Amino acid sequence: MNITLSTPPRPAGSRIAGLGHYQPPTVITNDDLVARGVDTNDEWVKSRVGIAERRFAMDETMIDMGVAAASKAMANSGISATDIDLVILATCTGKQQVPGGAAELASRLGIDSPGAYDINAACAGFVYALNSASEAVTAGHARNVLVVGSEKLTDYVDLLERGTGIIFADGAGAAVVTPSDSVGIGPVVWGSDGDNAHAITTDAASATLRQEGQTVFRWATSKMADVGLQACAAAGLQSWQLAGFVPHQANLRIIDLIAKKLKAPNVVVARDIVNSGNTSSASIPIALSKMLERGEVASGAPVLLVGFGAGLTYAGQVILTP
Ligand SMILES: CC(C)(COP(=O)(O)OP(=O)(O)OC[C@H]1O[C@@H](n2cnc3c(N)ncnc32)[C@H](O)[C@@H]1OP(=O)(O)O)[C@@H](O)C(=O)NCCC(=O)NCCS
Repeated sequence: MNITLSTPPRPAGSRIAGLGHYQPPTVITNDDLVARGVDTNDEWVKSRVGIAERRFAMDETMIDMGVAAASKAMANSGISATDIDLVILATCTGKQQVPGGAAELASRLGIDSPGAYDINAACAGFVYALNSASEAVTAGHARNVLVVGSEKLTDYVDLLERGTGIIFADGAGAAVVTPSDSVGIGPVVWGSDGDNAHAITTDAASATLRQEGQTVFRWATSKMADVGLQACAAAGLQSWQLAGFVPHQANLRIIDLIAKKLKAPNVVVARDIVNSGNTSSASIPIALSKMLERGEVASGAPVLLVGFGAGLTYAGQVILTP
């Protein structure tokens, strides 16, 4: 037999048509953590991690926050529920193992029968999901894709444990990816280091997060600038041409050390960790959405995203802002 299967028409590229974010209203300062019984202090947290405050979800679920962020991204993109045919949810804090959350999220948004799946690449998850969305669009397998990073880390953190309770927080960010006549989402540079999978895990008995802070710190500060520079090269850019840099918001010292190595003195660096803490796969879309909302980068400007976290996984990609 000599049968050739047909493929759908392929657009030249993909782009982000709109972004949105949602953070729960309850603000928790470092002094609030001390008042709750965490053995820490404001000065230590600000100087070692850079966090002044973070948001904790009370009654809201991970899906609730994802719905709120996605609604804003859809409104900002001008693309309605009826035009979305794929939903990708990046999360590592789903309430249960089965089912994943993407189908429920889509249903809550009134998106009828889309392809729907979850990605768990922890804090690198949003960039993995964004790239998957871009590939689906450029392969002609989806018209418009909703990408959501949503996390309720407070469900998986011992909030009294000072190694993790001071860092992690809740929130969601989202993007709508659509076909384009030119490339608006550059090539991904991604990878993993499973030999160090033990560095961030959930404890089997308590299901709470544990991390080897210094291992993660050294790994991120020694490797992630190269990932970012490779992503720039893959997109055909020099790092000095970047308008913005939005790394995963893990630790302000990590962010600043990576940013310094990029040798892009005029780039606007996202430092949303100061007011939001570490929201894992939600941190990049929240920080990027806020950067645009504040007008810190122009429309059509190149912004480098670098996600990294448990796995260990990482992914870097240059996008053009909507
Ligand atoms: C977790 C992290 C903040 C800890 O900082 P650190 O400088 O490595 O801290 P250490 O555990 O070595 O402890 C240093 C000192 O601070 C103290 N300390 C640790 N946590 C503290 C806290 N929350 N409050 C006050 N003191 C603290 C320790 O007891 C120790 O005191 P000592 O020197 O008197 O013994 C840091 O390693 C980090 O941010 N790593 C990256 C983690 C990360 O980004 N994870 C997410 C990736 S997606």
